[in-house]
Amino acid sequence: MRAEDVRRDGRVIAVVPTMGFLHEGHLTLLRAARARADVVILTIFVNPTQFGPSEDLSRYPRDEAGDLDKARPTGVDLAFCPDAAAMYPPGSQTYVQVRELARPLCGASRPGHFDGVATVVTKLFHLTRPHLAFFGEKDYQQLAVIRRMTRDLDFGIEIVGMPIVREADGVAMSSRNVYLSPEHRAQATCLVRGLDAAEAAVRGGERSAAALLAAARAPCEAAPAARIDYIELRDADELTAVERLARPAVLAMAVFVGATRLIDNRVLKP
Ligand code: PAJ
Repeated sequence: MRAEDVRRDGRVIAVVPTMGFLHEGHLTLLRAARARADVVILTIFVNPTQFGPSEDLSRYPRDEAGDLDKARPTGVDLAFCPDAAAMYPPGSQTYVQVRELARPLCGASRPGHFDGVATVVTKLFHLTRPHLAFFGEKDYQQLAVIRRMTRDLDFGIEIVGMPIVREADGVAMSSRNVYLSPEHRAQATCLVRGLDAAEAAVRGGERSAAALLAAARAPCEAAPAARIDYIELRDADELTAVERLARPAVLAMAVFVGATRLIDNRVLKP
């Protein structure tokens, strides 16, 4: 099946880019894509250019056969699972860089990360020629970066964001949750408890960023295995720093639980 032929027939293509080790969050994206497109393409590629030198690229969990079994019932039409040599042949040296949006938060903690994301997503878009592309709000900054890149570079692709899918105890689903020991898995609820506390404070009338951040930090500081990478309140669209909640802002956090770095976020509205 060639994307060009599908497009010429007037049929709609949706792509769902992933790094595999699929969970319910990924499957929700696939189902949403199925509901809107004629041809749904899942991509599975653990993208080396978005991992730092001391990060978990080599041990990132992989299970391609299991992924295809999980994806099939969603009605996906095609899985594209390239290897790194095919995506980055020797001599590859061109990167896509989104500037301001990619600087704070995960961009500050993981230098070069969003260059790798923007570049691989650009390549996946060109290889699959979608009309629609589905991404999770779990990776809030990533979604913002991809939206901006798509707009700035006139990709002509509709970017669809989907809500965060959580485990029964509130922990955001993530392929990296398998790294957690049972004890650390229990402590991983500190992120969502922090978000809940901040949201409750907003409902109670609190608007100062300092107070909201203090509420969000408390459960993370109380969990013995947790170490905060960042917890910040930023404008929901531009990701600029916010002192008071006057318009929608995202409370974004990255917290190490043991050696595992987890992220979560919530949009707070005054
Ligand atoms: P990955 O972490 O596999 O995530 C693939 C997609 O699933 C992303 O859009 C992510 O936001 C979404 N997702 C992950 N967990 C989710 C959850 N709990 N609820 C809702 N959506 C969730 O993000 C990447 O891969 C990569 O950076 C990629 C975009 C594929 C580029 O390499």
